[in-house]
Amino acid sequence: MTILALESSCDETSAAIVRGGRILSSVVSSQIKLHAEYGGVVPELAAREHLKNLLPVTRTALRLAKVGRADLSILRPNKIGTTEDGPVSQDAEQRVPADLELDAVAATQGPGLPTALLVGFKAAQAVAFALRKPFVGIHHHEAHLYSPWISRGGDALVADFTSFQPNVSLIVSGGHTLLVLVESELNHRVLGSTMDDAAGECFDKTGKLMGLAYPAGPEIDRLAEQGNPGAFDFPRPLLHDASDDFSFSGLKTSVRYFLRENPKLLDDAQCVRDLCASIQAAIVEVLVTKTIRAAKRNRVRCVTASGGVTCNRALRRELENACKREGFALRLAEDELCTDNAAMIGILAERKLLHKVPATDLDSEIQPGWVLA
Ligand code: KG4
Ligand code: ZN
Repeated sequence: MTILALESSCDETSAAIVRGGRILSSVVSSQIKLHAEYGGVVPELAAREHLKNLLPVTRTALRLAKVGRADLSILRPNKIGTTEDGPVSQDAEQRVPADLELDAVAATQGPGLPTALLVGFKAAQAVAFALRKPFVGIHHHEAHLYSPWISRGGDALVADFTSFQPNVSLIVSGGHTLLVLVESELNHRVLGSTMDDAAGECFDKTGKLMGLAYPAGPEIDRLAEQGNPGAFDFPRPLLHDASDDFSFSGLKTSVRYFLRENPKLLDDAQCVRDLCASIQAAIVEVLVTKTIRAAKRNRVRCVTASGGVTCNRALRRELENACKREGFALRLAEDELCTDNAAMIGILAERKLLHKVPATDLDSEIQPGWVLA
């Protein structure tokens, strides 16, 4: 089965071709630089960028995977089109041997920014309609849940569900922090989520207080490598709370007050590194402790993690240490699949079709506030 998947829920425009669990192509166009100027994602700008980038990104994904047939000409440029590599002529596109045909089309249905979601979702429905193929609307977080089962085998990314085992899955991004019990494939239950800020939001907002550019998470990760995580003692919200819920706004407020009282600290480069390491340590300790505790309580033997914050090296290291200590198998999403991508959307769509989950109606609408059950 060959599937075209599109993702446009936030600030990444992405298209992927998935076939038999293999990711034949995965193209992501990130808007981070555009939104950095505003210190966060601007929904209207995001939607316009998706509109501009969706066709070039999709064409590239089709070309790289050698997908094509006469009726896909709806996606080809008129004589001269553009890709991110610059203008391409129709001749050049046609010279590529195209030997695969699409069997289904998938797209993120929610949650996400409404105007951003609309771009990929409606385009995917239109392609499915034109090709008369099944359409699958995917829950973005459900796709994150299964992304840790995709790993690099040689030069390809391949999903392996033969080794699937029940797990507790941590999804940590700029918009969400979730702990989910995945009992079997396509069968899950949310254990807890954040009551206010997401973990990535905490990285970004505390970084902003320190004068770091948006998104501050990767920069805090880099600076923290040479900082002392024990230099400053910040709160670990809900660490000992019996629930699987999170709360990060108190940590952010505590950093704000601390910097208000000690403004000179920011003039010292080593103090900034220590601050980054100390904030990161607080976030990571909460995430790791609560994930391991949920895994023990639910008697699973496996822990998985995905979402942008899973790129964080301290989080990866501490999850590895804790899982080794407690005897859990650990599956971390590959770095390139932690942030938003259409490959995970395509992989989940394929699993759904293989498990005979009914296709999504072509008249269905986006669900910006769709909550994972
Ligand atoms: O999943 P993602 O690309 O987008 C959504 O929010 O859906 O995640 C982006 C978030 C941002 O908050 C960013 O600061 C954070 O992931 N992030 C990191 C790292 N890389 C990305 N946070 C900490 N350390 C990192 N290395
Ligand atoms: Zn995401």
